Amino acid sequence: MRYAVFGNPIAHSKSPQIHAAFAAQFGLADFRYDKLLAPLDGFAASVRAFFAAGGRGANVTVPFKEEACRLADMLSERAAAAQAVNTLQLLEDGRILGDNTDGAGLVADVLRHTGIAGKRVLLLGAGGAARGVLLPLVAQAPASITLANRTAARAEALMAEFASKAAGVPLLGCGFAELSGEFDLLINATSASLAGEALPIPASVFAPGALAYDMMYGKDETAFLQQAAAAGVGQRVDGLGMLVGQAAEAFALWTGKRPDVAPVLAQLRAAL
Ligand code: ATR
Repeated sequence: MRYAVFGNPIAHSKSPQIHAAFAAQFGLADFRYDKLLAPLDGFAASVRAFFAAGGRGANVTVPFKEEACRLADMLSERAAAAQAVNTLQLLEDGRILGDNTDGAGLVADVLRHTGIAGKRVLLLGAGGAARGVLLPLVAQAPASITLANRTAARAEALMAEFASKAAGVPLLGCGFAELSGEFDLLINATSASLAGEALPIPASVFAPGALAYDMMYGKDETAFLQQAAAAGVGQRVDGLGMLVGQAAEAFALWTGKRPDVAPVLAQLRAAL
């Protein structure tokens, strides 16, 4: 059983380590998972060659998630909504299924810490990372989802696009400057933490007892989590668990087996 992750660059991917640990949980001796560098102009050819050579499934990372969406012959509902694919599966009939497990990975990781149902959710950012988690968040029936972004128009457009899929959950889009009220679950889906930058949002948005989640992770707390700490937020979680969670969802899709993420997360955390 051959699997792989495609990206460019790919050298630092933790996915092979994560999937090897999952496979070991079930004693899958013939499970193999490689990291494969695809040329920037050769992603589709690389994936097709991999499947032709016996590959059964693949993960896709930066910068190929949108291209993977176009390559897939059919899409899961969540991948179609995300307009991005991080998981490919070769079906029995030779077609390629595109799925997106990022949002499910985030939701599963948040649920390990706190419930989402009935919570006031603030999603920060309106790029691909935010788009990918919107539908899985809606499915948890929060009280509302407010999406705030540096560029207000992008936030408004994204929420307007998702209005028909909101399943009764109020969706609001705005710029950081228009942000008011307080929230119980605040999720940073911007890339600001990559640049070490805090977000221009008031400390008052963090409700007492709120949980702050950053999709980024690192050895030290991200800029957003430091900002949350300064605002008095005790529950702060980085995105390492989302990384392991999205991998667990992909592994379950491919093998039908649901791995235990906790020991794998602990192992990765210790190695940061
Ligand atoms: P991704 O696929 O990682 O979401 P993206 O589509 O480029 O990447 O989106 C990046 C997101 O981070 C956007 O919401 C972007 O805000 P804009 O829409 O205003 O560009 C946000 N972002 C990036 N750098 C930021 C910063 N320094 N401060 C605040 N928001 C930032």
